[in-house]
Amino acid sequence: MKTFRLLAWAVLGLAGAANAQSTNKAELESVQRAVHVCAACHGDFGRSTKSFVPSLAGQMREYTIRQLKDFRNQSRAETDVQAYMWGISALLTDETIEGLADYYAAQKPAPGKSTQPKLEAAGRKIYENGSPSQGVLPCKQCHGDAAEGAAGFPRLAGLNAKYVYSQLQAFRTPLRPHGVLMKNETRALSEAQLKAVAAYVQSR
Ligand code: HEC
Ligand code: HEC
Repeated sequence: MKTFRLLAWAVLGLAGAANAQSTNKAELESVQRAVHVCAACHGDFGRSTKSFVPSLAGQMREYTIRQLKDFRNQSRAETDVQAYMWGISALLTDETIEGLADYYAAQKPAPGKSTQPKLEAAGRKIYENGSPSQGVLPCKQCHGDAAEGAAGFPRLAGLNAKYVYSQLQAFRTPLRPHGVLMKNETRALSEAQLKAVAAYVQSR
């Protein structure tokens, strides 16, 4: 219900609803204003059309909250994050961060995009079975059978392969400190395997 109201306000700009408490109203207005700014890069309704900017539509609430807080306290620190997300996240309160996470979790994601079927088939094997000989767990164990995500485990379905690949590399560095579980996943895989699994999740 809360999510629906937020959605209606943010999308339709129904800022004048008569019976809302004033604090609630101010909070929703700040989410609404923020969504306009985010859309310049993340696309309308969080459906990105830029390869280096992740889509936010349908992303897990808990995951989005943690990322925005990691940007704000500057612990998630890849070059593009420093350039694009540190400044804007510094302006967000906890309440606005939660409102933004609700808003994006409620948006319908764009369908996946298949561009390289052979590579995607190789990636699918890693996604579903992991690579036991390299000590790599199946991705689906945490990210879901359809890469739909669950709580702190992000949705991967439909994310641009270039962005996914760049993150898989970032997990090998200290730049994403909340990615400890991902370190073990990425350490042993070759560049070719990372590219394949990135292509696969984009196609989902
Ligand atoms: C000027 C462009 C720009 C604007 C404006 C912007 N972002 Fe971003 N955002 C990016 C880029 C680029 C990345 C990916 C950085 C990387 O390579 O890790 C990103 C990453 C993110 C992530 C991490 C997603 C993931 O899958 O890990 C979240 C969450 C996010 N932004 C939310 C927001 C919100 C909410 C707003 C508005 C308040 C916003 N962004 C405004 C460019 C932008
Ligand atoms: C044991 C659980 C686990 C397994 C298995 C796992 N992941 Fe993750 N993954 C996570 C967690 C937790 C995060 C969020 C890290 C954070 O908050 O920064 C994550 C984040 C990611 C991200 C970043 C998404 C974004 O929007 O920035 C990608 C990409 C990813 N995982 C891909 C994979 C792939 C590919 C595999 C299989 C090779 C895999 N994961 C296996 C737990 C897991």
